[in-house]
Amino acid sequence: EEQRLQERFDARIDAGDFIEAKDWMPDNYRKTLLRQISQHAHSEIVGMLPEGNWIGRAPTLKRKAILLAKVQDEGGHGLYLYAAAETLGQSRDEMLAALHSGKAKYSSIFNYPTLTWADIGVIGWLVDGAAIMNQVPICRCSYAPYARAMIRICREESFHQRQGYDSLLVMMQNGTPEQKAMVQDAVNRWWWPCLMMFGPPDDQSPNSAQGMRWGIKRVSNDTLRQKFVDATVQQAQVLGVTLPDPDLKWNAERGEEGHWDFGTIDWAEFWRVVGGDGPVNRERLGARVKAWEDGAWVREAALAHARKQQTKQEA
Ligand code: ACO
Repeated sequence: EEQRLQERFDARIDAGDFIEAKDWMPDNYRKTLLRQISQHAHSEIVGMLPEGNWIGRAPTLKRKAILLAKVQDEGGHGLYLYAAAETLGQSRDEMLAALHSGKAKYSSIFNYPTLTWADIGVIGWLVDGAAIMNQVPICRCSYAPYARAMIRICREESFHQRQGYDSLLVMMQNGTPEQKAMVQDAVNRWWWPCLMMFGPPDDQSPNSAQGMRWGIKRVSNDTLRQKFVDATVQQAQVLGVTLPDPDLKWNAERGEEGHWDFGTIDWAEFWRVVGGDGPVNRERLGARVKAWEDGAWVREAALAHARKQQTKQEA
């Protein structure tokens, strides 16, 4: 029976079918999805912190309203993703406990500090730009609840990317020399960590082969990273900033249409940050744990209210 179910599942994956929550699926498929979706949800929620730092310091009312909306969107993305992960049979409390204990990962990128206002623009342009590149293929992920959540998330992310680029363009075109230097400095600090967002090189990515086989991953880490570099170089030229990589060079010989060659990524830094020892890992996780503890009374009140309503109904 198990073997027949497995064969049917494989055939559906091969045919490009979507798997729904109620469908039979192998344990490891479920586990892999839970790992990836919960990690993705945690990234959205932790990702609210670096930008949240700047809501009170946004330079104009317009920028403040945009930033506030964007940070709220990230919270919403986290909620859709936790809901998608819950369909696989793990509770939100369990997922959050794994985050708070340091057992579950979240994206390395959110362990870098936001030092100036230009960082906010660069996060929109580069971090959300990288996120979109990675997330558009997930709209075709074989697990339907995840794919559906990703469609809306990608639409919102593309607004996030544009608002970031727009705010940088204003500073680069109308700003003072100090403001222009601030944008360049932010680009210098964020560029390499953004390239790391796509994960380790394909030949050092333990989950890739199986993820691709199952249609969870549609495009490989290195392919997405290259697409991101190729798309971003021109945007940097229009903006008038330099990407901090002396080895960045157009190579017409590579692929059918050519690609931008780029320098070596510091993978030791990547693994250090993923392992919990990045510039602000402790601060980020500390802020999440504190928010959870400070919110305890809200959860208790909501439960007490729900119990009261139920008792009333039964009476
Ligand atoms: N930050 C933290 N951990 C990472 C990162 C990263 N940038 N990249 C890879 N890892 C981890 C993986 O989770 C995996 O660890 P695990 O097995 O303990 O979970 C390990 O490094 C090896 O990596 P891979 O084998 O390549 O893992 P995987 O096949 O899952 O690919 C990837 C990693 C590309 C991040 C994939 O999980 C993915 O596409 N996730 C969904 C998108 C996402 O989470 N985005 C979050 C940032 S964008 C945002 O929220 C704005």
